[in-house]
Amino acid sequence: MTDDEILEKLRAAVAPKAVATDADALAPWLTDWRGRVTGSAIALVSPKSREEVQAVVRIAGEQGVAIVPQGGNTGMVAGGVPRPEDRAILLSLRKMDAIRAVDPGDNSLTAEAGVILSRVHEAAAEHGRRFPLSLGAKDSATIGGLIATNAGGTQVLRFGPMRALTLGIEAVLPDGSLFEGLSTLRKDNRGYDLRQLLAGAEGTLGVVTAASLKLVPAAPYREVAWLGLDSAPDALSALRALEASLGDAVESFELVPDAALALVLQHIADTRAPLEKACRWNVLVELRAASDPGGLRARFETALADLLEAGTIADAAIAESEAQAEALWKLRETIAEAERIDGVAAKHDVSVPVSAMPGFVERATEAVERKFAGARVVAFGHLGDGNVHFNVRAPAGSDDQAWFADTGESVNRFVHDLVHETGGSLSAEHGIGQLKIDEFERLADPARLAALRAIKQALDPHNIMNPGKLIPLAKPAEKP
Ligand code: FAD
Ligand code: MLT
Ligand code: ZN
Repeated sequence: MTDDEILEKLRAAVAPKAVATDADALAPWLTDWRGRVTGSAIALVSPKSREEVQAVVRIAGEQGVAIVPQGGNTGMVAGGVPRPEDRAILLSLRKMDAIRAVDPGDNSLTAEAGVILSRVHEAAAEHGRRFPLSLGAKDSATIGGLIATNAGGTQVLRFGPMRALTLGIEAVLPDGSLFEGLSTLRKDNRGYDLRQLLAGAEGTLGVVTAASLKLVPAAPYREVAWLGLDSAPDALSALRALEASLGDAVESFELVPDAALALVLQHIADTRAPLEKACRWNVLVELRAASDPGGLRARFETALADLLEAGTIADAAIAESEAQAEALWKLRETIAEAERIDGVAAKHDVSVPVSAMPGFVERATEAVERKFAGARVVAFGHLGDGNVHFNVRAPAGSDDQAWFADTGESVNRFVHDLVHETGGSLSAEHGIGQLKIDEFERLADPARLAALRAIKQALDPHNIMNPGKLIPLAKPAEKP
């Protein structure tokens, strides 16, 4: 069929105005958030129900057209935009944005795929509950995208990533059938866990149309502090000491090097340095508690005083109000935006065992800066999860686009090799998408790759679901 004939079928399957072909309407959704890949699509289709999603997927299957599911397009690995060579339908879930149910007795919330994370936070709070996963893109990232990438964020330390918080999933599979897995059961041993297979699948095994999520009790009392430190190993020692004295009240522990803070202060409006004297390393700590606010504050102050006295931390400032707490969080959550404004960076979302991370950051920074003259490392993020964003910027004053085009791939390989040698992963929380697929193939254990390919082949034999993302397809054998 021609593109026009396919468009006609799509318009019959969903409301005609839900099929956009206008270049201006498509443009913002064809380029990834970091501006590295611009793809092409025959249409941007925005269904309003799971039945409409099923109809679109069936048309794509019959016609051999790719389906690229998309939520907020905040992904970091270009998984939600088509490839330039694709004949694709860009399937936006953003119009499927109903919160279907909140059940405080069950501590669960059921939302359609297009619901934005901050709305889930609000809906849970209205019922005296919390959805304990947050990230800088919370006002745009959708439940479908968060599940498809198994997103992490700033509370993984205590509550785990999206997989740990997803109780059930409803999804349209590549053959157009509906997987009705929206249960909120805490225990269900009926064989392979399709919910966990779809989570983290980056849209390659089906389209998530709704999900039931785990809620936790509200924790209205919080303390937020900014710490200054001399070294990354000190940061891990501080985390373990705070956990020893404050237990699981410690929810977030985010590492911010001076270079990341400087980027934020330079590029983001209404920000100011949190400590009088700049420190080489900083940490943002958040404590949460359901009760006993006085006790929490007093124990926090004592714990920080002990760390200062021991020389583990060099300085500390505790927020005195909600506004101050938000201002500290802004410094952390806008690092990605500040980096984007600043220019190109070779981004590496890596994990190694938590205890190895401080040493890795120091060793890898030195190695990269020695090998690539003038390159500037900014390693920030989720230290308590053993996950930092180990980003490498071009030498100061250089043409960063040209540097990246010339050197970016070598930098990626160099960093990923160091991670691999340390027993780590080249994707801790952003996924593989288009941008990491070659490196994933280069470094993955062959048995892992073979199993992923077999699953993909079994569920999506015609490779219509988000082709070219996550799964490096086996290359045809060369003729002898
Ligand atoms: P998209 O970008 O639209 O899509 C991402 C992937 O999911 C694509 O492969 C897409 O095909 C697939 N997908 C989307 N919707 C569906 C669906 N309904 N069914 C099946 N597949 C689907 N990530 C973290 O993990 N931790 C962070 O701390 C973090 N911080 C961020 C901060 C900023 C400022 C920004 C811009 C991004 C950040 N991210 C972070 C990355 C991003 O927000 C997450 O990857 C998020 O999960 C993407 O959600 P989205 O709705 O924007 O998905
Ligand atoms: C973060 O932790 O801020 C994000 O994952 C975004 C990024 O890596 O740039
Ligand atoms: Zn992150």
